Amino acid sequence: MRILVMHGPNLNLLGSREPAVYGTATLDDINVLLQQLAKNLSVELEMFQSNSEGDLINAVQAASARGFNGILINPAAYGHTSIALRDALSAEALPFVEVHISNTYAREEFRHKSYLSDIAKGVVVGFGTRSYMLGLRGLVEHLKESTRSK
Ligand code: DQA
Repeated sequence: MRILVMHGPNLNLLGSREPAVYGTATLDDINVLLQQLAKNLSVELEMFQSNSEGDLINAVQAASARGFNGILINPAAYGHTSIALRDALSAEALPFVEVHISNTYAREEFRHKSYLSDIAKGVVVGFGTRSYMLGLRGLVEHLKESTRSK
């Protein structure tokens, strides 16, 4: 089972970016933890970070053809703004889980809207970097369950 892990804009700055909101773990730290968890769950991950909306959309569009079974995505600010990213995920039709490090609902009102949540398999917000691990567990359980029932 292969899962594409996508990190949106400014997440390359984790570690130094607003540590009071996002913690001190770097993106590499998070990716290492995700790879450890993936090994335990017997799934394969590929990581992709981009600050560019177009590059994220291209990665989503290529995901099925590249053999991925699902997507774990922190869309960062594009979750609040990008109908194009939503359309790409919708067209690709792979199960995906949306994660956010911070509790976006406890922050500014513009962060309360996500263009992805209603088409996601599930959403995890507010658990710090653990949101990614919870999201990966949920996605893998869902994927394993749906292959079993086929
Ligand atoms: C974020 C929340 C978004 O509102 C913000 O734009 C981010 C990070 C999070 O992980 O908490 O860049 O997605």
